[in-house]
Parts: sequence; C-alpha cells; structure tokens
Amino acid sequence: MLTIKNVSKKFGEIVALDRVNLRVSNEECIGIIGPNGAGKTTLFNVISGFIKPDSGKIEFRGECIRGKKPNSLVKKGLVRTFQLIRVFKNMTVEENILAPNSKNGVRDILERVELVDKRNMLAKNLSQGELRRLSIGIAIASHPKMLLLDEPFSGLSPKEASQLDNVIRELKEEGIPQIIIEHKLKELFNLSERVVVLNFGKIIFDGSPEEAVRDKTVINAYLGANHAEN
Ligand SMILES: Nc1ncnc2c1ncn2[C@@H]1O[C@H](COP(=O)(O)OP(=O)(O)O)[C@@H](O)[C@H]1O
Ligand SMILES: [Mg+2]
Repeated sequence: MLTIKNVSKKFGEIVALDRVNLRVSNEECIGIIGPNGAGKTTLFNVISGFIKPDSGKIEFRGECIRGKKPNSLVKKGLVRTFQLIRVFKNMTVEENILAPNSKNGVRDILERVELVDKRNMLAKNLSQGELRRLSIGIAIASHPKMLLLDEPFSGLSPKEASQLDNVIRELKEEGIPQIIIEHKLKELFNLSERVVVLNFGKIIFDGSPEEAVRDKTVINAYLGANHAEN
C-alpha cells in the first residue's frame, strides 16, 4: 500500500527525518510514537505532499508519489487529518462534510462519525471530541484508501476518546489502513497492532506494542519520560 524508502528531510541544521524506511500493508493500523520534535508530523507532511523530502522514495499503491501535491494525493486516496483541527468554523457539520463531496453519502458519513444529531450545528460550537470526529468525516468524504491521523485523541475526555475509538475501529474494519500519530498510548495500543518509534528523525523501533513497552531503547528515548508526565 505505502512504501517509504530512505526518506530524509532537514530544516536548516535540524534533521527532521533521517533515512526513514517504512512499509504499510493493506488493512494495517500502525501507531507512530516518539518525543516532541522527533519528526512525526514531518513524516506525515512528507507522505501527504505538504513537504518535499530532500531524498528517498515514496510509493503509494505501486506508484511513485514523491513531489506530488496534497490535492492530487487526496484524489488518489491518501488522506490525512491535522494535529490542529482544520474545519470551516462558520459552516455547519453537514456543510463541512459536503464541501469536498457530492450530495450523496453525507448521511452515511454523519452516521459513521456519530454526528447525525449535530448536522445543523455550526462547527465552532462543537466540543473537541465532535470536532475530531468531524475532521475524520471530512477525510472520509474524499473516499480514502489510506488515512493518516495526527494525534486524534489529544484533548479528548475519556468518553470522547472511547467514541472516537469506535469510529476509527469501524474504518479499520472496512479495510482502510491507517497510520496514527498519538501520545495517548492506551488509546493507540487499543487500535494498532504495530508501533513505530521515531527519535531525532530516526526509526528506533518497529514491532508490537507489547514489545515496544519492554524495549530498552524505546523506554530511554520516550516511554520513561512519557509515563512520568502522565
Ligand atoms: N516547517 C518547518 N520549518 C522548520 N523546522 C521544522 C518545520 N517543521 C518541523 N520542524 C522541526 O523539525 C523537527 C521535527 O518536528 P515535527 O515533525 O513537528 O515533530 P513531532 O511531530 O514529532 O513533534 C522539530 O525540531 C521541528 O522544530
Ligand atoms: Mg507533531
């Protein structure tokens, strides 16, 4: 589905991505974790065409997509959401979903993201959890073949998190592979069977969540500090 080979990206002296290799197969749900500044969002920016890598190859469904623009990648089915939610605040929930979509299928999307009751509400009046689900609804409206979700659980209450978990789980069951960047490990490990750890732009671990929490390198780079914070 997605193959990333030796992808590097520098910002001045900062090495945001350092020869990253990653393969994501059909129906997989991968979690990406790592400290702040590790390069997680940069990896999404590079995959989704917002930033050009300095070097390396990116293939999506067998096609080289390096250097392709975000819009053209969305048309190919590579769709992302943002760490800071991007919606049209003065439009209703339904209008937001309609924006990239034709008229049909909106009801279905509203149901999938559990926002039928809120369809006529202005986006600016939604709770954080509802906004997250709306941003996923907008992503679904462009018929994704793969979804990249950047910190979808951040700022959500436990109840909102469990509702979002349902929504993401159903997308996974429909066979849409996902890459999820997330600091909330409990929520992430519920969804993803594989986790990749980034540190200073390098992949330092790629394996199961169970192995990740026992891995010394991962504990030293990230988990130790993360557990202390939570
Ligand atoms: N557009 C940019 N311009 C300059 N530096 C950037 C830019 N985007 C990210 N960086 C830097 O690259 C590093 C990785 O950032 P980022 O990918 O946002 O990390 P993460 O999402 O893991 O917290 C950080 O040091 C960050 O300051
Ligand atoms: Mg980030």
